[in-house]
Amino acid sequence: MQLRSINILKIKVGTGTEPVAFLIRIKTTGCVKKNQTTGCKNFESGSLVFCRNNHFTMDLNFKDQVAVITGAASGLGLAIAEKLAQYKVKLVLIDRDRELLKAAVNKLAPSGSWALDITDEKAVQGMMDATGSKYGRIDILVNSAGITGITNTKSHLVESANLRSVFDVNFMGSYHTSKYALPWMLKNDYGRILHVASIAGKEGNAGMLAYSASKAAVIGMTKVQGKEYAETGITVNALAPAVIRTALVEAMPEEQVKYMTDKIPMKRCGTLEEAAGMAAYILSPQNSFTTGFTFDLSGGRATY
Ligand SMILES: NC(=O)c1ccc[n+]([C@@H]2O[C@H](COP(=O)([O-])OP(=O)(O)OC[C@H]3O[C@@H](n4cnc5c(N)ncnc54)[C@H](O)[C@@H]3O)[C@@H](O)[C@H]2O)c1
Repeated sequence: MQLRSINILKIKVGTGTEPVAFLIRIKTTGCVKKNQTTGCKNFESGSLVFCRNNHFTMDLNFKDQVAVITGAASGLGLAIAEKLAQYKVKLVLIDRDRELLKAAVNKLAPSGSWALDITDEKAVQGMMDATGSKYGRIDILVNSAGITGITNTKSHLVESANLRSVFDVNFMGSYHTSKYALPWMLKNDYGRILHVASIAGKEGNAGMLAYSASKAAVIGMTKVQGKEYAETGITVNALAPAVIRTALVEAMPEEQVKYMTDKIPMKRCGTLEEAAGMAAYILSPQNSFTTGFTFDLSGGRATY
């Protein structure tokens, strides 16, 4: 590989949460190797935007968009909300944990926030209709709310009640939110839905029947919805992370976490920044020819 040129094309000085951004073009004769400072690797000649916090961000256009994000008070949901805030997306944060939600609201000053449980279909319907009526649009839905239920347990020992409660949150919850967001998206012939699934839904994690099966159901729903709305301006995709150290993972038995992390060929966990960066692209207007697809974020674990 040989570096041919680096040109600064644009410098944008932001205010508040908006980063200082440089649009630069790097021309090489081959691939640029991994650069820890920027988190970029193996990019061909092209354009990237580098930010003050050393994370790169893409030049995505979310002008005037409204996003509903569930599980927004913690982990991936909060990281995705923070990322979309950088693009000035109007955020509506949903979480059942009032205290955590209050902290997220203080941090991000969203346009709206609702402390509700996504298993409550009527509450979800009321929230979506109020949001759609207020803004006349719902452009983005991120389903990040999720639970693992009891893990590190073989199938013959799994309590049916535990299986049902995990399905209720992970599958039914995501079904409820998409059911009531879709009419608003259809009205404007535009929408981006991202269901946060899991590598467990593709590969199956021993000891995690409820979680793996519920995430497989989410991936199935993504394929169905992707096809159903393919001729509209709506795309429906999923994300399948391996392990990212969040409250959800910290609450699991260490033995189960070791089982999952040992399977990652890169021999490290994913980061919230990696998840949020990939989500931002999936949710952007630029992601216009991919639907019904499950994006991989597994450090090489996924085999299909
Ligand atoms: N962290 C990982 O390694 C990992 C890997 C694969 C998939 N995922 C998925 O990513 C998503 C986010 O997980 P996370 O790691 O950020 O977890 P997290 O526990 O940090 O965040 C989940 C949030 O969802 C909320 N929530 C849970 N049930 C809810 C309900 N019924 N109604 C409303 N809110 C509810 C919680 O209060 C919490 O704030 C989940 O769907 C999870 O299954 C996580």
